[in-house]
Amino acid sequence: MGQMLLLYRPPMKILVLGSGGREHALVWKLRESQLMKEIYCAPGNAGIAQEAECVSVDLADAASTLELATRLGADLTVVGPEAPLAAGVVDVFEKAGLAVLGPSRTAAQFESSKIFAKRFMERHGIPTARFRVGEDFEQAVRALDEFSTPVVIKADGLAAGKGVVVARTRNEAEQVLDAAMRRGALGRAGERVVIEEALSGEEVSFIVLTDGNTSIHLPPCQDHKALLDNDQGPNTGGMGAYSDDTILAESTRGEILRRIVNPTLSGMSEERIAYRGFLYFGLMMTADGPKVLEYNVRLGDPEAQALLMRLRSDLVELLSSACEGALATRHAHWSPNPAVCVVAVSRGYPAAPETGKTISGYDLAETVGGVKVFHAGTVFKDGQLLTSGGRVLGVTASGEDLPAALHRVYAAMSKIHFEGMHYRHDIGAKSLKRQAGPPPGPSSPARKQEAQEPHQRWR
Ligand code: AMP
Ligand code: GLY
Repeated sequence: MGQMLLLYRPPMKILVLGSGGREHALVWKLRESQLMKEIYCAPGNAGIAQEAECVSVDLADAASTLELATRLGADLTVVGPEAPLAAGVVDVFEKAGLAVLGPSRTAAQFESSKIFAKRFMERHGIPTARFRVGEDFEQAVRALDEFSTPVVIKADGLAAGKGVVVARTRNEAEQVLDAAMRRGALGRAGERVVIEEALSGEEVSFIVLTDGNTSIHLPPCQDHKALLDNDQGPNTGGMGAYSDDTILAESTRGEILRRIVNPTLSGMSEERIAYRGFLYFGLMMTADGPKVLEYNVRLGDPEAQALLMRLRSDLVELLSSACEGALATRHAHWSPNPAVCVVAVSRGYPAAPETGKTISGYDLAETVGGVKVFHAGTVFKDGQLLTSGGRVLGVTASGEDLPAALHRVYAAMSKIHFEGMHYRHDIGAKSLKRQAGPPPGPSSPARKQEAQEPHQRWR
């Protein structure tokens, strides 16, 4: 019956919540669908405004967001960022009977509380770093005795990417605890902390879309969090990402599903936590196998830009099915070609980004084949495109192999300019190193051989 209903789904009005590169990629992909009648984004940005009608909204205010969706007559609302989820926007929509894709406020705690997430993993035997909870400063300092250095300190709450510190020395760890727990440097988010052992290995972003019963897993991605080349400098929201099937061997992917994804989803249903939407597993591929660093309750940014470029299936159909609990009738098809997103950021990012700089060449960049420029912190003013935030543009390209995609992305990036613009030049470099030399075509035996390599190294 579900199948019949899905076949006759009438075209829909869709509202996307958010204003970053991830939301631009969502709008861009949703627009391709035959099932899309009208598309809105709130609040959106200058790039999104080229493809959807942008409407202003305060995403922290769930009631006015609901009022907006009702006024627009949205048949489906898709939530991009974590803040409205943690504020309970999904609960408010569901109570009013409006279709919305994203987890409830309770389920959003997988991201909005590190303590909640770690205790959940502990209850369900999900591999993660050994940890202790610090409820107050004295308890946190005592807990440090149980760890060698480097040691990782995580603010419990949402801290806009500033909540995690890998402390090299005991002294540094105590200073971090003092700043967060006694001097309120992170506000309420840092009142309680998780202290955990530092893991080493390569990080992988593994994302699934679930309707609460079944799930579809997306291809693997790798984010680049550090500001500067060779993973130097402070952590950011993400300076670039690529998605390529060779990031994970088939057997490693199986292990991630078996030991991490499935126990997480079945743990949720055991605990009667209804989860609909994207669930992001931030993994460290350690010598003891994959371990969870964090959950996010949404698509990653900039992972979404690379992933959505690879998606061949109808996104409206996938997201509506997830929302209706009908994902079992759906398959997602992906291009075998890798995709890469490189982010151009403003001078001063992440601490204090400059804004108001004129951006040139962004239209020229899209004349490079296979390239799409997703906007994040941009605004149109007096006929000019200006920067309005830290992450400005996410230049995204696909290619028949990673070197081809990288060539395109950097050729396009070289056409863009704004004062103080910075981007990393080594996105995807780890994969190139892993593949050791130019990768062959998708089905050649040599590529298969290489795909095994990370698996062996990570075990
Ligand atoms: P999180 O928000 O928990 O993903 O942490 C942000 C970043 O901090 C991660 O992407 C890692 O680079 C780093 N990180 C978090 N937890 C650990 C850990 N246990 N060991 C080493 N690095 C970590
Ligand atoms: N790229 C990591 C994140 O979205 O949190």
